[in-house]
Amino acid sequence: MGLVTSTEMFKKAYEGGYAVGAFNVNNMEIIQGIVEAAEEEQAPLILQVSSGARKYANPVYLRKLVEAAIEVTGLDICLHLDHGDDFDICKTCIDSGFSSVMIDGSKHPFKENIALTKRVVDYAHDHGVVVEAELGKLSGIEDAISVADRDSTFTDPDEAIEFVESSGCDSLAITIGTSHGAFKFKGEPHLDFERLDKITALLPNYPLVLHGASSVPKEFVNLCNQYGGQIPGAQGVPEDMLRKAAKSGVCKINIDTDLRLAMTASIRRIFVENPGYFDPRQYLGPGRLAIKAMVAHKIKNVLGCSNKR
Ligand code: G3H
Ligand code: 13P
Ligand code: ZN
Repeated sequence: MGLVTSTEMFKKAYEGGYAVGAFNVNNMEIIQGIVEAAEEEQAPLILQVSSGARKYANPVYLRKLVEAAIEVTGLDICLHLDHGDDFDICKTCIDSGFSSVMIDGSKHPFKENIALTKRVVDYAHDHGVVVEAELGKLSGIEDAISVADRDSTFTDPDEAIEFVESSGCDSLAITIGTSHGAFKFKGEPHLDFERLDKITALLPNYPLVLHGASSVPKEFVNLCNQYGGQIPGAQGVPEDMLRKAAKSGVCKINIDTDLRLAMTASIRRIFVENPGYFDPRQYLGPGRLAIKAMVAHKIKNVLGCSNKR
């Protein structure tokens, strides 16, 4: 019980055809909202910290908040570094008690990505920590991407086996058409499921990871805009596509943007409806509830991991 790696979570998720949610955390209210939902839903949980979150909140605060969440709820939580850029940040997180790190070497050439990932894996495994790596480039908005572009940026299935075997990484983030942020597709949303199936066939029982997996629900975009926001034409990954991916070897689904939208929509509304409010608890409290509702929805209706802890 307590801080755990994702190994058991992924094994059960793979066998059960569901995914574990990996939610980005930046402050206390975000952590509390996520954890309360996971506790009520009895769901496995990964909390992930980006470099930006480390700079914003100070890593010690975030780690201590996650420890507090474990103490208060008794949940098993995997504490994960999101998009570690180099060996040093991974080492720092491993040394300070993270149970999982991502080394994102996707910007490097194939062999360099393998070498960097292997270096992190060797250090992490010596310390009982698991490693996620990334192969393929998560691009910006997909704009009627050509087959040639797709082949050069999306994960190559044959390279995926070589990468996993040579680097020893415990899970692999793949690119099949998702991207970070609120603007993922200009036209119809499309994920390359054929490619996913090939990767899964070549790497059976191996946990894959989907980044950029927010669905950017229209109601939250509209709510933000109704209360003074300006978020035009956002477009996320449809929820049915995520459910399909979760049944095809994707064991970890990363969600950040949808949490941002939910919290911001709620706080914008509070300010417009209550111009006299100036106690931060009056807006951060509802913001935390909005995070909780969003995470509960993901767990129940998208990830399929209710009662799987
Ligand atoms: O993949 C990126 C996550 O959404 C974290 O974003 O770098 O702004 O904290 P951030
Ligand atoms: P979204 O921007 O789609 O929420 O993706 C978050 C993510 O991949 C974090 O690593
Ligand atoms: Zn990501």
